[in-house]
Amino acid sequence: MSQRVRIAPSILSADFSKLGAEVQAIDEAGADYIHLDVMDGHFVPNITFGPVVVESLRKVTPKPFDVHLMISPVDEYVEGFAKAGADIITFHPEAGAHPHRTIQLIKSYGKKVGISLNPSTSTSVLDYMIDDLDLILVMTVNPGFGGQKFIPLLDKIADVRARIAATGRQIDLQVDGGINAETAKQVIAAGADVLVAGTAVFKEKDYKEAIARLRG
Ligand code: DX5
Ligand code: ZN
Repeated sequence: MSQRVRIAPSILSADFSKLGAEVQAIDEAGADYIHLDVMDGHFVPNITFGPVVVESLRKVTPKPFDVHLMISPVDEYVEGFAKAGADIITFHPEAGAHPHRTIQLIKSYGKKVGISLNPSTSTSVLDYMIDDLDLILVMTVNPGFGGQKFIPLLDKIADVRARIAATGRQIDLQVDGGINAETAKQVIAAGADVLVAGTAVFKEKDYKEAIARLRG
């Protein structure tokens, strides 16, 4: 069964000149998770920030840090993000040759672990990993940039929902990319229960209203 719908604003669309204040503002506006997009200019064609920024933001909010790693390799950086205060660490299975090992590594730091599926990545990649996962992220844009157009992978979301149900465990089903009030309704109906939103939160004047609108 799906859990309550939670909203994870992505700070990728925040004003980086006042990042601490932006994170505090979404905390007060009702964000459930803080979604932190880490990009390396190699796995994806964009560069954002590393553990130093995560560590400094850790001081401004107690909300769970949902760290989305779009980097390759991953393993070398897990310790840094774990120690910087990540609560959930999500990575892409294509980022390394041994995703099972990466999962165990993230868990060894006592962190929750997520797998992210690019639009073209089959849900069958979950087959021998799902029992270890706390979160599955279905990307509805190709990772790398905010503000892209939603790819309607609704059948894929429903497929992941069925796979989660078959485990009998609670696993977050997160959707990331092009989420707004309209697409939020569609992905929730398909089974998503954590919505990432960059543009639809940070490009609005009233963050509280924007977050509430996404909950449907
Ligand atoms: C894209 C990132 C997303 C991005 C979403 O690679 O993973 O989290 O910030 O931005 P919007 O909500 O604007 O599509
Ligand atoms: Zn993301």
